[in-house]
Amino acid sequence: MKKILVLLIIGCFAFGTNAFTQTKATVDLKGDDHKISRHIYGHFSEHLGRCIYDGIWVGENSSIPNNQGIRKEVIDALKGIGIPNLRWPGGCFADEYHWKDGIGPKDERPPMINTHWGMVSEDNSFGTHEFLRLCNLLDAEPVIAGNVGSGTVKELSDWVEYVNSDIESDMTRLRKKNGKEDAWYVKYWGVGNESWGCGGNMNPTQYYEKMVRYSTYMRSYPDKPLYKVAVGPSGFNPEWTEEFMKNVAEKGGAHLFSGYSLHYYTVPGNWQDKGSATEFGESEWFTTIRKALRLEDLIEVNARIIDKYLPDADIDLVVDEWGCWHNVETGTRPGFLYQQNTLRDALVAGLSLNIFNNHSDRVKMANIAQTVNVLQAMVLTREEQLIKTPTYHVFDMYQVHHDATYLPLKLISQDYEFKNKEIQAVTASASEDEDGKVHITFTNADPHNTASVECAPDGDRTLEFKRGEVLTHSQMNAHNTFEDPKKVTVREFNNAEVENGRIKVEVPAKSVVMVEFE
Ligand code: AHR
Repeated sequence: MKKILVLLIIGCFAFGTNAFTQTKATVDLKGDDHKISRHIYGHFSEHLGRCIYDGIWVGENSSIPNNQGIRKEVIDALKGIGIPNLRWPGGCFADEYHWKDGIGPKDERPPMINTHWGMVSEDNSFGTHEFLRLCNLLDAEPVIAGNVGSGTVKELSDWVEYVNSDIESDMTRLRKKNGKEDAWYVKYWGVGNESWGCGGNMNPTQYYEKMVRYSTYMRSYPDKPLYKVAVGPSGFNPEWTEEFMKNVAEKGGAHLFSGYSLHYYTVPGNWQDKGSATEFGESEWFTTIRKALRLEDLIEVNARIIDKYLPDADIDLVVDEWGCWHNVETGTRPGFLYQQNTLRDALVAGLSLNIFNNHSDRVKMANIAQTVNVLQAMVLTREEQLIKTPTYHVFDMYQVHHDATYLPLKLISQDYEFKNKEIQAVTASASEDEDGKVHITFTNADPHNTASVECAPDGDRTLEFKRGEVLTHSQMNAHNTFEDPKKVTVREFNNAEVENGRIKVEVPAKSVVMVEFE
């Protein structure tokens, strides 16, 4: 008995075993040779439900305060989290969007049916000019997903020319006629979206052939090189990546794309019954976190396959759709994907962003789905009101990592056990900003136990704790409502110190924490 107890105690404190009562970490203060791209903190806005129409776009004649049709409060909120880029117009919508229907005088734009999302008619009043003006107001880089499913090569080629070219042509004349004298510069383009499904039901070889044709004619105009993103697999489907990359390796085309897209949604239940966004217990909480943590595997598996076929190519990973997908809120239109957003969603956001940071040598962009009123949104609107979700606050806290130097952090987390299953309780990532401030962000998914994290810095610097922020609540399904918009919000956090050169942080149960050292 005595022997078993001793073994248990050793087991609890040994570095590298599973049953940890304490989380241990090391952070390399010498830094890595790369920065965490701010584009990891990107967003996605589709013509879907109330994301664009009624969310972002209220129209010039609306009584809701707007900037030439764009809801002012949305602009202010997104600027508040330093939104670095915005992906548009879809999603599945992208492959049925014909951009020429969305330019020119609004009363001459033809209406269209959004067949994918609710079979609703839309009047095309939000098109290329409106989107690019929005990005300009936000100081965010536009990311346009091109139509490869139902559009032509020429149509996509024309779109690039229309927005990026200053050389005399029918497209640039058309743009000028529509009131924009100088070209914009849209660097980021998706060559289709989910071409294995709503984007054309292709197999990887069919998509490879399409990608080569469409991408060839998406031209870089003088001083405006394009960054093109090829379509990757549906969730965990390495066969797509295998076959697509094999084609590229054998037939060529690695120069035709810079990024490779991954989509990963955390669905607590299954696709038929995803589970409620707000009514759940610990079982659903645990499953959600367990599924969200698999994002790391997805990144690693796909990076390995790319490197196997194309060891010398420089292909980034772009996770251009991710987030929690729950059942739609009762009483709302099923095709509109409106869902509430709780502390659980905030945990998923925090741990996913930590995973992206820790793979920022490879992941250069990510876009959470979707900015306003759809899926894991930053903000929700109701008539003239707007509320910020818990996920918004995580993006706010993590702004410290934008374009900061990545500091490699190794972590052995204590376990979070539920019904004889265990997952890691804690995730973390670290960076150093231009002023030399070191930031570490943590998530602790364990809803019962504080995580006592002891972190040994590796480097000559002596750090001092400066400030911290925490997002938590006593209820795991706590969320903000139009009646109680500040129920879950960021608070000051002081439970950290540096003792004998070691960083100690008490990360509360079910929380996201940011700590700053100098
Ligand atoms: O974000 C909702 C949908 O999810 C997108 O339109 C599609 O790309 C994905 O399947």
